[in-house]
Amino acid sequence: MITPEVVYLGSAFLREALRQAIELTDSAYAHTNERVKTSLSEGSMRPSDLLAQFKQTGPHTRAHIRAAEVLDNTVELIREMVYTHTMATPTPNLTDSTHYGGLPTPPTTAGCPLSMKTSWEPLEAGTLSTATTTSPCPHVLYTHNENISLDSSLSHLLVEWGQWIDHDLVLTPQTPSTAAFKTGADCSQTCSRDTPCFPIEIPLSDPRTGIQSCMPFFRSAPSCFGSVATPPHRHREQLNAITSFVDASMVYGSTDQSASDLRNLSSPLGLLALNPQHSDQGLGMMPFLPRKQSHLDPCGPRTGRNASGAETPPDQNMTSCFQAGDSRANEHLGMIALHTLFLREHNRLARELKQLNPHWSPDTLYQEARKIMGAIHQVMEDMECLD
Ligand code: HEM
Repeated sequence: MITPEVVYLGSAFLREALRQAIELTDSAYAHTNERVKTSLSEGSMRPSDLLAQFKQTGPHTRAHIRAAEVLDNTVELIREMVYTHTMATPTPNLTDSTHYGGLPTPPTTAGCPLSMKTSWEPLEAGTLSTATTTSPCPHVLYTHNENISLDSSLSHLLVEWGQWIDHDLVLTPQTPSTAAFKTGADCSQTCSRDTPCFPIEIPLSDPRTGIQSCMPFFRSAPSCFGSVATPPHRHREQLNAITSFVDASMVYGSTDQSASDLRNLSSPLGLLALNPQHSDQGLGMMPFLPRKQSHLDPCGPRTGRNASGAETPPDQNMTSCFQAGDSRANEHLGMIALHTLFLREHNRLARELKQLNPHWSPDTLYQEARKIMGAIHQVMEDMECLD
C-alpha cells in the first residue's frame, strides 16, 4: 500500500497521468456543455441531448461521476504510457519529490470517496452490481406478429407499470460528455470506441450497410467502486442515482432537496404541490419544472435565435415539462399519467388521514401518506405484478 510519506518511482508519472486526466475530463464536459447550449439556442437539439435532460442527477452524484471518470481516464493514460513507453520522459517539475511525494491511492487522488456507506442516501445505498447479461431469448427474437395474440386479462398498464417500478428503483447516470475524452470525437458521429463513445457495429450482412457502419451508443458513467483501480472487482461498474428501494421515490424524489421542492409546505395537510395554473375538472396536475433561461430550456416554450442572432418568438406548440420525483416523468404520456395519478393519491391519502387524525402536524400527515404510498407500491409489485 502506498503511503503519503514515501516517494515511489512511479509517483511522478501518476501525477502526470492524473493532471492530464483532469484536463481531458473537464474539457470534454465543457465542450459538451457549450455544444448543447448552442443546439438549444438554435433549436437543433439532438434526441440524445433530450435523453440526457431526462436523466439529470444531483450535485452529489455529478461529483462522484467526475471523480470516477478522472480515475478511469488516469488508469487509461497510465496504461497507454506503459504500452508506448512514454513513461521515460516525465515533465521535469513533476519529478520534484518534495512537492510530488508518494501519492495516496489513485481513487482518492481522483476525488473518489474512501468507502461506500450504507444508508438511505441514494448514491450510498444505490450502487448496484450489474447482473451478467445473457443473449435475448431466441423465442422472443424470432416470433412473428401472427403468433402474438392479445391478452384478454392484462392491459397496456402492465407495461407502463414495469417502467414505473423501474423508475422507482434505478437511474443509471450517463457521463456529462458526449465526445471521446481522448480524441474529442463526437460520439454520435464516430465509429471508433473511445470512452465514452461505444458505437455498435452494423454487420456487413445487414441491409442497412452503406448508409452507416455503426449506431451511436454511449457508455453509462462509471462508478468509483468496482473500477479497475479498486481490487478485487477490477471491472467497470455503474451507479444508481436514485433510491434502490420500492419506496415511490419517483413520486417523492430521492434527495431531501427534491422531496422538499415537491411539497406544498404552506398547506396544513401535508400535501404535495400541484400546478397552480392548470387542473382537470378540479383534479390536480403536476407543477411545471422551474424554467431555466428560456432559450436554454429544452422543455419550452422557448425562444430561438435566427441566423442573424435575433430572438424568435416561442414555438406555441411546445409546453413546459412537469416536475416530479424522477427526472424521467416527461418521457411519454403513459409516465405522465402515472405520475399524475399517484400525486393525486398522495393528496387524497393525506386528506383522509387528516380527517382521522385532526391533531397530526402537516409533516406527520405527509410522512404517513408517503409511507402508505411506499407500502401500496410494494404490495402491488410483489403480490399483484410479480406474482
Ligand atoms: C414508451 C415506453 C418507454 C420509453 C420511451 C422508454 C425510454 C427509455 C429510455 C430513453 C431509457 C434510457 C436509455 C439510456 O440511458 O440510454 C430507458 C431505460 C430503461 N428502461 Fe425504458 N422506456 C419505455 C418503456 C420501458 C418499460 C415498459 C420498461 C420495463 C418494463 C422499461 C425499463 C427500462 C429500464 C430498466 C431502463 C434502464 C434504467 C436505468 O438503469 O437508468 N422501459 N428507457
